[in-house]
Amino acid sequence: MSVDVSLAELLHAFVEVELPAAGTLDEAYACKVKYLGKKGLVTEVTRTLGALPPEERRTRGQQINEAKASCEAAYEARCAVLRAQAEASALGAFEDLTWIATPPMGTLHPVTRTRRALERVFGAMGFDVVDGPHVEFSRFNFDDLNIGPDHPARDMADTFFVEPPAGSRWSLGDLVLRTHTSPVQVRTMMQRRPPIRIVALGTVFRRDDDATHSPMFHQIEGLCIDERVSMADLRATLYRFVSAFFERPLEVRFRPSFFPFVEPGAEFDMQCPFCGGKGCSVCKGSGWIELGGAGMVHPAVFEACGIDPERYTGWAFGFGIDRMAMLMHQIHDLRLLFENDVRFLEQFPC
Ligand code: PHE
Repeated sequence: MSVDVSLAELLHAFVEVELPAAGTLDEAYACKVKYLGKKGLVTEVTRTLGALPPEERRTRGQQINEAKASCEAAYEARCAVLRAQAEASALGAFEDLTWIATPPMGTLHPVTRTRRALERVFGAMGFDVVDGPHVEFSRFNFDDLNIGPDHPARDMADTFFVEPPAGSRWSLGDLVLRTHTSPVQVRTMMQRRPPIRIVALGTVFRRDDDATHSPMFHQIEGLCIDERVSMADLRATLYRFVSAFFERPLEVRFRPSFFPFVEPGAEFDMQCPFCGGKGCSVCKGSGWIELGGAGMVHPAVFEACGIDPERYTGWAFGFGIDRMAMLMHQIHDLRLLFENDVRFLEQFPC
């Protein structure tokens, strides 16, 4: 009888107590060795068989075999559970398998995106994109553009002058932070022969700072020079540009204006892309939005740059990239563009 009881107890201890307590496959195996191994507890019971009378031996033997089979089955079942748990926790460590690829990503600044969109549209219209330096010669920024020595734009109050390096051949007044992109016209005319068709986009600087003016802002300049180029070509080009950029036909109109480097000169407006000219809050009911300046290149500029004004004519235009970005994204304060507040920038995902 004692064998009976201890067999049942062993079975219970193994299947109900020790195996469920084993937390790893190694612990479960140790447990199996303790009961079913060569010197295991169940194996010891088997050894007592020999002392039994033959008729009892058969039944005992059967009981022991059944107990062993139950132990084996319980062991396999426990191992299956532990294996599944191990696998699940290994996976758990990499629960989001894409996490490495998704740290917070920066996006392009709205001005950069507008700039690239402009380059794309003018590029498709056959314009080369050219560049010029931020620190510019006063000569290219002013003189060669027919902006005489007494022009108010040359005042220290409007222009950032750059102090030339000590011992250089330049004196104070010779170098400026460019106040517009028009000096790139001069550089281009000095380097290339007509036909010329370029746009220049970039940063410009003026001593100005309020909700609609920043000491650093961005302009785009367009220049086209060939024989028999006219104001009609300029208007058609601006019409094609605004229509392509805003993906709907938009009229352009000129208002007479003055810039020393063009004659005749104009300011140009486009039909409001938001209401199609009917009048809305963006265009303040007028149906038109002011864009920038334009005109026919002044003969004095051609002469300063070595291009024959008797043979060639040309037109130029310029307008603000920041204003364009503000218009597209309905931004009301220019300063928001340059404060780099992440809460603002985050509103422009790719
Ligand atoms: N450079 C002028 C400005 O900054 C814009 C302009 C460019 C006007 C080309 C006419 C022709 O205001």
